[in-house]
Amino acid sequence: MKSTEEKVLEWRENAGKTYFKEELDAREPLVREILALKEQKNAILLGHNYMTPDVYYGISDFVGDSLALARKSLEVNADIVLFNGVHFMAETAKILNPKAKVLIADLKAGCSLAESMTGADVRALRKKYPGIPIVSYINCTADAKTEVDIICTSANAVKIVESFDSDTVIVAPDGYLASNIQKKTEKKIIPWPGKCMVHELYTEFDVDMARKSFPNATVIAHPECKDTVTAKVDFTGSTSQMGKFIRESKAKEVMLMTECSMGDNLRAEFPEVVFISSCQTCPHMKKITLEKVRDALKYEQFEITLTQETIERARVPLDRMLAVV
Ligand code: 13P
Ligand code: SF4
Repeated sequence: MKSTEEKVLEWRENAGKTYFKEELDAREPLVREILALKEQKNAILLGHNYMTPDVYYGISDFVGDSLALARKSLEVNADIVLFNGVHFMAETAKILNPKAKVLIADLKAGCSLAESMTGADVRALRKKYPGIPIVSYINCTADAKTEVDIICTSANAVKIVESFDSDTVIVAPDGYLASNIQKKTEKKIIPWPGKCMVHELYTEFDVDMARKSFPNATVIAHPECKDTVTAKVDFTGSTSQMGKFIRESKAKEVMLMTECSMGDNLRAEFPEVVFISSCQTCPHMKKITLEKVRDALKYEQFEITLTQETIERARVPLDRMLAVV
């Protein structure tokens, strides 16, 4: 196991690819406090790939995309699980690990997709399209999860849709993810009109400009971008698949069409790659700061609470997804 000094050094080295020395100096006491509180309270920190580098490196026990974090939530054995990401992700961790005290550092860290569809909306969809399976992106509330047939993430969406015999499948709440899946399946996809407020900002013009200005750059997008945008890029995948693609393709120059911190974190992981910034900020992810992480551990706030019934019903579509991939 690494000592505190080793962890702090690693944190400085990686976060130092983004922050000035003075910024690191100012934040280091918080990192030390967080490391001490983690030990004292037997807490595990899970972090999404969109966390800023100061939260992503050094203090996290495990980082990844939504699928990897869901899998990890199942197996962690700790008194406290602090989820550094957005609310639906922390809820998912609670559903998968109901015995743990699951915390999120800011309850207002939401998601435009999760907020676009309620459980009642799913019931109405089922009434409108009887017998058609309903796949929901993991970016939805626990309430919506209780009503759907199966969950998918950006890493496994096509595989999940293909797992049904039915030739028509409803994909909600991300309309752009649905249209990106439609390009890769023979099945008829019925979408829901939700959007990610971050990825919907990318346009075809952005890709054309990138190609003109940086002809050697490999352009990578998230499947929450419009299908007209993903049609023009070199690779589309989940946040973790982006890193894997860079590693395997050995790209030298990369432009990412996704949330800003993704580029910052990958810059530390791939120092030999030039990352061209074309990022958009997720105001929800950015609510998670070192100060709030420290307070979350210190005061054991803010706890995710769900009824037993919600946990049991929302677990069903998550387990079905985890059984498919
Ligand atoms: P990933 O599952 O690809 O990490 O995406 C989660 C998310 O919210 C992206 O906006
Ligand atoms: Fe939601 Fe988009 Fe933010 Fe991801 S980036 S949490 S999908 S608003």
